[in-house]
Amino acid sequence: MAFSIKQFRSPRGCLSYIVSDTETKEALIIDPSVEVSIKEYTSFLKENELKLQFIIETHTHADHISSAQKVKEETGAKILQHKNAPSHLKDRTLSEETLNLGNTEVRFLYTPGHTDDCICILIGDAVFTGDTLLIGGTGRTDFQNGSSQDLYNSIWKKLMILSDSTKVYPAHNYKNQVNSTIGYERAHNPRLALSHDEFVTAMDAHHPQKPDLFDTAVAENSK
Ligand SMILES: [Fe+2]
Repeated sequence: MAFSIKQFRSPRGCLSYIVSDTETKEALIIDPSVEVSIKEYTSFLKENELKLQFIIETHTHADHISSAQKVKEETGAKILQHKNAPSHLKDRTLSEETLNLGNTEVRFLYTPGHTDDCICILIGDAVFTGDTLLIGGTGRTDFQNGSSQDLYNSIWKKLMILSDSTKVYPAHNYKNQVNSTIGYERAHNPRLALSHDEFVTAMDAHHPQKPDLFDTAVAENSK
């Protein structure tokens, strides 16, 4: 299978991705955001003659408003989210399963912890980690049914079993980094240097300021 990845970065560091099967030209989009113009997504699809099949949310975002519905209206693609996601817009619910994007296998890993509807998406040597694993960090666990214990288990039992060379594509990055790898995060991510108990204690005490758009984003993205 051969696939390609295009990353879109919003001015506030929210990352979305279009992944396409290079032979069949079927594509999926991960975490589309209103902070990237719809035109940017649709022009990319058009220029590359891609057929968008799936719109996938890694979780219910609290820091930006999703454009999944608008992308659906433009393309007719289906919205896929974990079954715990509160949104009524999903066309299909996901649990641990695999689907085909043309000749490319797409594996969904259920990775609760940041929220209870978090999934990571494994495609070949790339894993899209949402806010479960960030470059040099992890998502917070203090709202949307988050759980520090679940996050620890998701990271170590679902992600850190992948090969070191697996590329990590997160949902956010504020430092203009494009991606990381599982091996790099294992070696350098300070949160991964913590034992289970240290991690749970540190994350349970970690209450950064709520994201700017918290109330609006959660309400909009849960519709
Ligand atoms: Fe998040």
